[in-house]
Amino acid sequence: MKFMDVQTEKGIISMSKIVMGTDYFGVNIPEDTAFALLDKYIALGGNTIDTARVYGKAPAPDPDEAYANSEPIVGRWLTSRGCRDKIFLVTKGAHPSMKDMNCRRLDRASIDSDVAMSLHELNTDYIDLYFLHRDDPSRPVEEIIDTLDAHVKGGRLRAIGASNWTVSRINEANAYAKAHGKTPFTASQIHWCAAQVPQGFWDDPSIQVMSPEAYQGYMENQIPVMAFSSQARGYFSKLLAGEALPVKRMNRYDIPENRRRLESIRSLCEETKAPASALMLAYVTSSQPVQGAAIIGCSQLRQLEETMSYADLTLTESQRAKMRRE
Ligand SMILES: NC(=O)c1ccc[n+]([C@@H]2O[C@H](COP(=O)([O-])OP(=O)(O)OC[C@H]3O[C@@H](n4cnc5c(N)ncnc54)[C@H](OP(=O)(O)O)[C@@H]3O)[C@@H](O)[C@H]2O)c1
Repeated sequence: MKFMDVQTEKGIISMSKIVMGTDYFGVNIPEDTAFALLDKYIALGGNTIDTARVYGKAPAPDPDEAYANSEPIVGRWLTSRGCRDKIFLVTKGAHPSMKDMNCRRLDRASIDSDVAMSLHELNTDYIDLYFLHRDDPSRPVEEIIDTLDAHVKGGRLRAIGASNWTVSRINEANAYAKAHGKTPFTASQIHWCAAQVPQGFWDDPSIQVMSPEAYQGYMENQIPVMAFSSQARGYFSKLLAGEALPVKRMNRYDIPENRRRLESIRSLCEETKAPASALMLAYVTSSQPVQGAAIIGCSQLRQLEETMSYADLTLTESQRAKMRRE
Protein backbone atom coordinates (compact mmCIF):
# COMPACT_ATOMS: atom_id res chain seq x y z
CA MET A 1 0.00 0.00 0.00
CA LYS A 2 1.23 3.48 -0.85
CA PHE A 3 0.72 6.31 1.65
CA MET A 4 0.81 10.09 1.50
CA ASP A 5 1.34 12.73 4.15
CA VAL A 6 -1.47 15.02 5.23
CA GLN A 7 -0.86 18.06 7.42
CA THR A 8 -3.22 18.12 10.44
CA GLU A 9 -3.41 19.99 13.73
CA LYS A 10 -1.78 16.93 15.32
CA GLY A 11 1.13 16.98 12.87
CA ILE A 12 1.64 15.00 9.69
CA ILE A 13 -0.51 11.89 9.36
CA SER A 14 -0.04 9.17 6.78
CA MET A 15 -3.14 8.24 4.81
CA SER A 16 -3.33 5.28 2.48
CA LYS A 17 -3.54 6.25 -1.17
CA ILE A 18 -6.44 3.85 -1.65
CA VAL A 19 -9.43 5.16 0.27
CA MET A 20 -12.62 3.24 1.07
CA GLY A 21 -15.67 5.10 -0.24
CA THR A 22 -19.01 4.57 1.49
CA ASP A 23 -21.56 6.41 -0.67
CA TYR A 24 -24.03 3.55 -1.01
CA PHE A 25 -23.76 2.06 2.47
CA GLY A 26 -27.24 1.34 3.75
CA VAL A 27 -28.84 1.74 0.32
CA ASN A 28 -27.70 -0.88 -2.19
CA ILE A 29 -24.90 -2.05 0.13
CA PRO A 30 -26.49 -3.55 3.26
CA GLU A 31 -24.80 -3.13 6.65
CA ASP A 32 -23.36 -6.66 6.87
CA THR A 33 -21.77 -6.28 3.41
CA ALA A 34 -20.48 -2.83 4.39
CA PHE A 35 -18.85 -4.32 7.51
CA ALA A 36 -17.27 -7.12 5.44
CA LEU A 37 -15.97 -4.59 2.88
CA LEU A 38 -14.45 -2.40 5.62
CA ASP A 39 -12.85 -5.43 7.33
CA LYS A 40 -11.35 -6.60 4.04
CA TYR A 41 -10.15 -3.09 3.14
CA ILE A 42 -8.24 -2.86 6.44
CA ALA A 43 -6.87 -6.39 6.04
CA LEU A 44 -5.54 -5.36 2.61
CA GLY A 45 -3.60 -2.46 4.15
CA GLY A 46 -5.91 0.58 3.86
CA ASN A 47 -6.42 3.05 6.73
CA THR A 48 -8.65 5.79 5.30
CA ILE A 49 -12.46 5.86 5.09
CA ASP A 50 -14.39 8.52 3.16
CA THR A 51 -17.98 9.21 4.10
CA ALA A 52 -20.33 12.24 4.09
CA ARG A 53 -23.32 13.63 5.96
CA VAL A 54 -25.56 12.97 2.93
CA TYR A 55 -24.36 9.47 1.97
CA GLY A 56 -26.58 6.42 2.17
CA LYS A 57 -29.94 8.15 1.75
CA ALA A 58 -32.67 5.89 0.43
CA PRO A 59 -34.99 7.54 -2.13
CA ALA A 60 -37.64 9.53 -0.26
CA PRO A 61 -40.40 12.04 -1.07
CA ASP A 62 -38.31 14.72 0.68
CA PRO A 63 -34.61 13.87 0.13
CA ASP A 64 -33.54 16.49 2.70
CA GLU A 65 -35.49 14.59 5.37
CA ALA A 66 -34.29 11.10 4.33
CA TYR A 67 -32.10 9.32 6.87
CA ALA A 68 -28.43 9.17 5.84
CA ASN A 69 -27.17 5.65 6.60
CA SER A 70 -23.49 5.83 5.69
CA GLU A 71 -22.05 7.71 8.68
CA PRO A 72 -24.02 5.64 11.24
CA ILE A 73 -22.86 2.39 9.60
CA VAL A 74 -19.23 3.56 9.61
CA GLY A 75 -19.70 4.69 13.24
CA ARG A 76 -21.08 1.29 14.31
CA TRP A 77 -18.25 -0.47 12.49
CA LEU A 78 -15.60 1.75 14.17
CA THR A 79 -17.16 1.08 17.57
CA SER A 80 -17.57 -2.66 17.09
CA ARG A 81 -13.97 -3.06 15.86
CA GLY A 82 -12.53 -0.67 18.48
CA CYS A 83 -10.25 0.80 15.84
CA ARG A 84 -11.06 4.53 15.77
CA ASP A 85 -7.46 5.52 16.57
CA LYS A 86 -6.10 3.39 13.68
CA ILE A 87 -8.33 4.98 11.05
CA PHE A 88 -7.87 8.23 9.14
CA LEU A 89 -11.52 9.26 9.11
CA VAL A 90 -12.76 11.60 6.39
CA THR A 91 -16.26 13.01 6.18
CA LYS A 92 -17.95 15.84 4.35
CA GLY A 93 -20.66 18.33 5.21
CA ALA A 94 -22.41 21.49 4.06
CA HIS A 95 -23.83 19.76 0.98
CA PRO A 96 -26.49 21.89 -0.74
CA SER A 97 -30.14 21.02 -0.29
CA MET A 98 -30.82 17.66 -1.96
CA LYS A 99 -33.96 19.22 -3.47
CA ASP A 100 -32.23 22.23 -4.93
CA MET A 101 -28.49 22.22 -5.57
CA ASN A 102 -28.63 26.01 -5.89
CA CYS A 103 -29.63 26.21 -2.25
CA ARG A 104 -26.10 26.28 -0.79
CA ARG A 105 -25.40 25.58 2.88
CA LEU A 106 -22.08 27.18 3.73
CA ASP A 107 -23.45 29.52 6.39
CA ARG A 108 -22.03 29.06 9.90
CA ALA A 109 -25.20 27.48 11.36
CA SER A 110 -25.37 24.81 8.64
CA ILE A 111 -21.68 23.91 8.95
CA ASP A 112 -21.90 23.83 12.76
CA SER A 113 -24.94 21.59 12.71
CA ASP A 114 -23.44 19.22 10.10
CA VAL A 115 -20.19 18.88 12.07
CA ALA A 116 -22.16 18.08 15.24
CA MET A 117 -24.33 15.52 13.41
CA SER A 118 -21.31 13.81 11.82
CA LEU A 119 -19.54 13.49 15.19
CA HIS A 120 -22.70 12.03 16.70
CA GLU A 121 -23.39 9.57 13.86
CA LEU A 122 -19.75 8.48 13.59
CA ASN A 123 -19.63 8.03 17.37
CA THR A 124 -16.36 9.91 17.68
CA ASP A 125 -15.18 13.20 19.16
CA TYR A 126 -12.93 14.19 16.24
CA ILE A 127 -12.76 13.92 12.47
CA ASP A 128 -9.32 13.63 10.89
CA LEU A 129 -10.16 15.45 7.67
CA TYR A 130 -13.40 17.36 7.17
CA PHE A 131 -14.41 18.42 3.67
CA LEU A 132 -16.92 20.98 2.57
CA HIS A 133 -18.85 18.93 0.00
CA ARG A 134 -19.39 21.90 -2.33
CA ASP A 135 -18.50 25.59 -2.57
CA ASP A 136 -20.72 28.64 -2.56
CA PRO A 137 -18.71 31.14 -4.62
CA SER A 138 -21.05 33.93 -3.53
CA ARG A 139 -19.95 33.56 0.11
CA PRO A 140 -16.63 35.16 1.17
CA VAL A 141 -13.86 32.67 1.92
CA GLU A 142 -13.04 34.58 5.14
CA GLU A 143 -16.34 33.63 6.77
CA ILE A 144 -16.03 29.98 5.70
CA ILE A 145 -12.45 29.61 6.94
CA ASP A 146 -13.32 31.33 10.25
CA THR A 147 -16.17 28.86 10.80
CA LEU A 148 -14.02 25.81 10.09
CA ASP A 149 -11.04 27.17 12.02
CA ALA A 150 -13.18 27.41 15.17
CA HIS A 151 -13.90 23.66 14.87
CA VAL A 152 -10.22 22.88 14.37
CA LYS A 153 -9.23 25.02 17.38
CA GLY A 154 -12.02 23.31 19.34
CA GLY A 155 -10.47 19.89 18.60
CA ARG A 156 -13.47 18.56 16.64
CA LEU A 157 -11.69 18.64 13.25
CA ARG A 158 -8.00 17.90 12.74
CA ALA A 159 -7.72 19.13 9.17
CA ILE A 160 -10.04 20.64 6.58
CA GLY A 161 -10.48 20.10 2.86
CA ALA A 162 -12.41 21.52 -0.08
CA SER A 163 -14.45 19.18 -2.28
CA ASN A 164 -15.57 20.45 -5.68
CA TRP A 165 -13.91 23.82 -5.20
CA THR A 166 -11.92 25.47 -7.98
CA VAL A 167 -8.17 25.80 -7.45
CA SER A 168 -8.50 29.59 -7.43
CA ARG A 169 -11.07 29.56 -4.60
CA ILE A 170 -8.89 27.15 -2.60
CA ASN A 171 -5.93 29.47 -3.11
CA GLU A 172 -7.99 32.48 -2.07
CA ALA A 173 -9.14 30.71 1.12
CA ASN A 174 -5.61 29.55 1.94
CA ALA A 175 -4.12 33.00 1.37
CA TYR A 176 -6.59 34.38 3.92
CA ALA A 177 -5.87 31.51 6.35
CA LYS A 178 -2.11 32.03 6.07
CA ALA A 179 -2.33 35.80 6.56
CA HIS A 180 -4.52 35.45 9.67
CA GLY A 181 -3.11 32.37 11.42
CA LYS A 182 -6.17 30.24 10.55
CA THR A 183 -6.36 26.64 9.37
CA PRO A 184 -5.89 26.30 5.60
CA PHE A 185 -7.40 23.65 3.35
CA THR A 186 -4.99 20.73 3.41
CA ALA A 187 -6.55 18.60 0.64
CA SER A 188 -8.92 18.76 -2.30
CA GLN A 189 -11.47 16.16 -3.44
CA ILE A 190 -12.64 16.16 -7.06
CA HIS A 191 -13.48 13.74 -9.89
CA TRP A 192 -10.25 12.45 -11.42
CA CYS A 193 -9.73 9.29 -13.44
CA ALA A 194 -8.18 7.95 -16.63
CA ALA A 195 -11.45 8.16 -18.58
CA GLN A 196 -12.26 11.23 -20.60
CA VAL A 197 -15.03 13.18 -18.96
CA PRO A 198 -16.68 15.51 -21.47
CA GLN A 199 -18.33 18.81 -20.60
CA GLY A 200 -21.78 18.27 -19.10
CA PHE A 201 -20.81 14.75 -18.00
CA TRP A 202 -22.27 15.17 -14.52
CA ASP A 203 -25.91 16.10 -13.95
CA ASP A 204 -24.55 18.39 -11.27
CA PRO A 205 -22.50 21.23 -12.80
CA SER A 206 -20.96 22.11 -9.42
CA ILE A 207 -18.78 18.97 -9.59
CA GLN A 208 -15.13 19.77 -10.33
CA VAL A 209 -13.15 17.51 -12.65
CA MET A 210 -9.35 17.29 -12.92
CA SER A 211 -8.20 19.15 -16.04
CA PRO A 212 -4.72 20.09 -17.30
CA GLU A 213 -5.29 23.60 -15.90
CA ALA A 214 -6.42 22.28 -12.50
CA TYR A 215 -3.44 19.89 -12.42
CA GLN A 216 -1.10 22.84 -13.03
CA GLY A 217 -2.82 24.67 -10.15
CA TYR A 218 -2.29 21.72 -7.78
CA MET A 219 1.35 21.55 -8.88
CA GLU A 220 1.72 25.15 -7.79
CA ASN A 221 -0.20 25.04 -4.48
CA GLN A 222 1.07 21.49 -3.67
CA ILE A 223 -2.28 20.40 -2.26
CA PRO A 224 -2.90 16.64 -2.51
CA VAL A 225 -6.02 15.52 -4.34
CA MET A 226 -8.43 12.75 -3.38
CA ALA A 227 -9.99 11.41 -6.58
CA PHE A 228 -13.59 10.25 -6.58
CA SER A 229 -15.07 7.90 -9.17
CA SER A 230 -11.43 6.96 -9.75
CA GLN A 231 -12.43 3.67 -11.43
CA ALA A 232 -14.81 5.45 -13.83
CA ARG A 233 -17.52 3.48 -12.02
CA GLY A 234 -16.14 0.21 -13.38
CA TYR A 235 -16.52 1.25 -17.04
CA PHE A 236 -13.23 -0.21 -18.32
CA SER A 237 -13.19 -3.22 -15.95
CA LYS A 238 -16.68 -4.30 -16.85
CA LEU A 239 -16.24 -3.87 -20.60
CA LEU A 240 -12.99 -5.86 -20.53
CA ALA A 241 -14.70 -8.59 -18.51
CA GLY A 242 -17.68 -8.62 -20.89
CA GLU A 243 -20.02 -7.44 -18.10
CA ALA A 244 -23.01 -5.21 -18.81
CA LEU A 245 -23.08 -1.64 -17.46
CA PRO A 246 -26.21 0.23 -16.43
CA VAL A 247 -27.58 2.43 -19.25
CA LYS A 248 -26.94 5.69 -17.38
CA ARG A 249 -23.29 4.78 -16.87
CA MET A 250 -22.88 3.74 -20.53
CA ASN A 251 -24.44 7.03 -21.65
CA ARG A 252 -21.87 8.88 -19.56
CA TYR A 253 -18.66 7.06 -20.29
CA ASP A 254 -19.16 5.28 -23.59
CA ILE A 255 -17.78 7.87 -26.00
CA PRO A 256 -15.35 7.14 -28.87
CA GLU A 257 -12.35 8.50 -26.94
CA ASN A 258 -13.01 6.14 -24.01
CA ARG A 259 -13.36 3.20 -26.44
CA ARG A 260 -9.86 4.09 -27.69
CA ARG A 261 -8.58 4.35 -24.11
CA LEU A 262 -10.10 0.93 -23.45
CA GLU A 263 -7.66 -0.53 -26.00
CA SER A 264 -4.70 1.21 -24.32
CA ILE A 265 -5.81 -0.12 -20.96
CA ARG A 266 -6.26 -3.59 -22.40
CA SER A 267 -2.66 -3.59 -23.63
CA LEU A 268 -1.38 -2.13 -20.34
CA CYS A 269 -3.17 -4.95 -18.49
CA GLU A 270 -1.21 -7.43 -20.59
CA GLU A 271 2.06 -5.55 -20.00
CA THR A 272 1.68 -5.16 -16.21
CA LYS A 273 -0.48 -8.26 -15.52
CA ALA A 274 -2.66 -5.98 -13.36
CA PRO A 275 -6.46 -5.82 -13.82
CA ALA A 276 -8.01 -2.64 -15.24
CA SER A 277 -9.49 -1.73 -11.85
CA ALA A 278 -5.99 -1.69 -10.28
CA LEU A 279 -4.58 0.29 -13.21
CA MET A 280 -7.27 2.93 -12.72
CA LEU A 281 -6.14 3.40 -9.11
CA ALA A 282 -2.46 3.36 -10.04
CA TYR A 283 -3.18 6.11 -12.56
CA VAL A 284 -4.09 8.41 -9.65
CA THR A 285 -1.72 7.07 -6.98
CA SER A 286 1.34 7.25 -9.28
CA SER A 287 0.76 10.90 -10.16
CA GLN A 288 3.78 13.17 -9.63
CA PRO A 289 4.28 15.91 -8.61
CA VAL A 290 0.60 16.24 -7.64
CA GLN A 291 -0.07 13.64 -4.96
CA GLY A 292 -3.25 11.63 -5.54
CA ALA A 293 -5.32 9.23 -3.45
CA ALA A 294 -8.02 7.15 -5.15
CA ILE A 295 -11.39 6.75 -3.42
CA ILE A 296 -13.01 3.47 -4.43
CA GLY A 297 -16.65 2.46 -4.39
CA CYS A 298 -16.57 -1.32 -4.62
CA SER A 299 -19.95 -2.91 -3.97
CA GLN A 300 -18.73 -6.52 -3.61
CA LEU A 301 -15.84 -8.24 -1.83
CA ARG A 302 -14.73 -9.79 -5.11
CA GLN A 303 -14.40 -6.31 -6.64
CA LEU A 304 -12.53 -4.95 -3.63
CA GLU A 305 -10.02 -7.80 -3.71
CA GLU A 306 -9.41 -7.29 -7.41
CA THR A 307 -9.24 -3.50 -7.21
CA MET A 308 -6.71 -3.60 -4.35
CA SER A 309 -4.69 -6.49 -5.78
CA TYR A 310 -1.92 -4.24 -7.11
CA ALA A 311 -1.99 -1.56 -4.40
CA ASP A 312 1.79 -0.98 -4.69
CA LEU A 313 1.82 -0.64 -8.47
CA THR A 314 3.49 2.54 -9.68
CA LEU A 315 2.99 3.48 -13.32
CA THR A 316 5.58 5.50 -15.21
CA GLU A 317 4.55 8.85 -16.64
CA SER A 318 4.57 7.33 -20.12
CA GLN A 319 2.24 4.51 -19.00
CA ARG A 320 -0.09 7.11 -17.46
CA ALA A 321 0.00 9.10 -20.70
CA LYS A 322 -0.73 5.90 -22.66
CA MET A 323 -3.92 5.44 -20.61
CA ARG A 324 -4.96 8.92 -21.79
CA ARG A 325 -3.87 8.06 -25.36
CA GLU A 326 -1.23 10.84 -25.39
N1 LIG B 1 -16.84 14.50 -3.09
C1 LIG B 1 -17.79 14.13 -3.93
O1 LIG B 1 -18.57 14.96 -4.41
C2 LIG B 1 -17.93 12.68 -4.27
C3 LIG B 1 -18.73 12.29 -5.37
C4 LIG B 1 -18.84 10.93 -5.68
C5 LIG B 1 -18.20 9.99 -4.90
N2 LIG B 1 -17.43 10.37 -3.81
C6 LIG B 1 -16.74 9.36 -2.96
O2 LIG B 1 -16.01 8.50 -3.82
C7 LIG B 1 -16.40 7.14 -3.57
C8 LIG B 1 -16.23 6.32 -4.80
O3 LIG B 1 -17.05 6.83 -5.86
P1 LIG B 1 -17.59 5.88 -6.98
O4 LIG B 1 -18.49 4.85 -6.39
O5 LIG B 1 -18.13 6.73 -8.06
O6 LIG B 1 -16.20 5.19 -7.43
P2 LIG B 1 -15.72 4.10 -8.46
O7 LIG B 1 -14.79 3.24 -7.69
O8 LIG B 1 -15.24 4.75 -9.70
O9 LIG B 1 -17.04 3.28 -8.87
C9 LIG B 1 -17.55 2.27 -8.07
C10 LIG B 1 -18.31 1.27 -8.93
O10 LIG B 1 -17.42 0.69 -9.87
C11 LIG B 1 -17.73 -0.68 -10.03
N3 LIG B 1 -16.54 -1.44 -9.64
C12 LIG B 1 -15.75 -1.26 -8.55
N4 LIG B 1 -14.75 -2.16 -8.53
C13 LIG B 1 -14.89 -2.93 -9.64
C14 LIG B 1 -14.18 -4.02 -10.19
N5 LIG B 1 -13.07 -4.51 -9.60
N6 LIG B 1 -14.64 -4.56 -11.35
C15 LIG B 1 -15.74 -4.07 -11.98
N7 LIG B 1 -16.47 -3.03 -11.49
C16 LIG B 1 -16.05 -2.47 -10.35
C17 LIG B 1 -18.90 -1.01 -9.12
O11 LIG B 1 -20.10 -0.94 -9.91
P3 LIG B 1 -21.33 -1.94 -9.58
O12 LIG B 1 -21.70 -1.68 -8.14
O13 LIG B 1 -22.37 -1.51 -10.57
O14 LIG B 1 -20.80 -3.34 -9.82
C18 LIG B 1 -18.85 0.11 -8.10
O15 LIG B 1 -20.12 0.43 -7.58
C19 LIG B 1 -17.82 7.24 -3.02
O16 LIG B 1 -18.20 6.11 -2.27
C20 LIG B 1 -17.66 8.46 -2.15
O17 LIG B 1 -17.02 8.10 -0.91
C21 LIG B 1 -17.27 11.70 -3.52
